[in-house]
Amino acid sequence: MDFRLSEEHEMLRQSVRDFAEGVLAPKVADRDENEYFDREVYDQMGQLGLTGIPFEEEWGGAGMDFIAYAIAVEELGRVDPSAADTLSAHLSLGTVPIWIHGTEEQKKKFLIPLVEGKKLGAFGLTEANAGSDAMGMTTKAELDGDEWILNGRKIFITNAEAADTYIVFARTGPKELRSKAFSAFIVEKGTPGFSFGKFEKKMGLRGTQNCDLIFENCRIPKENLLGQEGQGFKIAMETLDGGRIGIAAQSVGIAQGAYEAALNYAKQRVQFGKPIAALQAIQFKLADMAVDIKASRLLTYDVAWRKSQGLPYGLDAAIAKLKASETANWVANQAVQIHGGYGYTREFPVERMMRDAKITELYEGTSEIQRVVIGSQILR
Ligand code: CAA
Repeated sequence: MDFRLSEEHEMLRQSVRDFAEGVLAPKVADRDENEYFDREVYDQMGQLGLTGIPFEEEWGGAGMDFIAYAIAVEELGRVDPSAADTLSAHLSLGTVPIWIHGTEEQKKKFLIPLVEGKKLGAFGLTEANAGSDAMGMTTKAELDGDEWILNGRKIFITNAEAADTYIVFARTGPKELRSKAFSAFIVEKGTPGFSFGKFEKKMGLRGTQNCDLIFENCRIPKENLLGQEGQGFKIAMETLDGGRIGIAAQSVGIAQGAYEAALNYAKQRVQFGKPIAALQAIQFKLADMAVDIKASRLLTYDVAWRKSQGLPYGLDAAIAKLKASETANWVANQAVQIHGGYGYTREFPVERMMRDAKITELYEGTSEIQRVVIGSQILR
């Protein structure tokens, strides 16, 4: 077993770090403060090839593995968790399902521009009464000749109005069919009957957009069904397994960024005549932070490796997401603690990091849902 990253992985890490520090860092606080999504940031991620990391060259990708993808999301998360979220929602949730389940025609039409970063993807599963209970969704799709007619409303959708291509889940069969009563569809922005509703005002990740997707007699071509009719719930669950790798990586990045900020501050901040880093109370905190970050990173790279090898990875994705998101929250909280009162002000980035961290325990399955997934698999 060799835990060293390849030269290609190290080079990717360096180039994403340079991008994050050079391009993202200068305006990360501004995007947070003024709550806006900057399409240019996404376009630049596309130009850097980040939107295509794990896809084959025939689809416009770089043909790298999911460890490379995790490294890229981690490096973005270290500086700008919103940018990490944009990429992760686009790639794991908005692009992978077409890569896995799309027909040749769907891949040519929809996958290539997503992989090349020319279009932005999104994933519409959540509804007002279908959060953790994803099967509770009521958005409906009915076949009418050569078209599906969509009716319903999705909420909290990441990449929101900024996206171009949406994977939307809807009921296509009666309740008795249970999980086989749902199907997945590809819906393009601009389709008549598809509009946007409420935009969320959020605690963190304010450099991303989240809003409602509204479908009112929205007619989409029959050929935009993704996978088979009745396969939608499985596609959603499988996609979320992969998405959780992205959230684990984003969480590792947030934790790393907060830890580095705390470490630097502790070396500079003088109290009782010496830097606070000389105090064992602070050293113990930094040591515990370093331990949890290392454990979270190893779990994240391990599940990314499993996915790249084609091994089962749903359990490992839930484990990595759970551990890394709880680490991000704990570490960001400790980083604020080490900064003392200054950490509570917007003069220091740890205040934003603590707010940005919270969502990692909530989206793509809450920590409670990760425990449900882990519990049910270990007891199977
Ligand atoms: N892969 C493939 N199939 C799966 C699966 C997986 N990981 N998990 C379950 N399934 C299948 C099961 O095998 C079962 O199939 P059969 O009906 O053929 O037996 C079917 O799906 C139903 O499974 P369950 O009975 O386990 O379903 P459940 O209703 O009990 O729900 C759950 C299971 C794990 C709680 C699931 O609902 C879940 O993951 N909920 C969380 C949803 C979630 O993560 N939402 C996040 C939304 S996206 C987001 O946050 C991003 C954003 O943009 C903001």
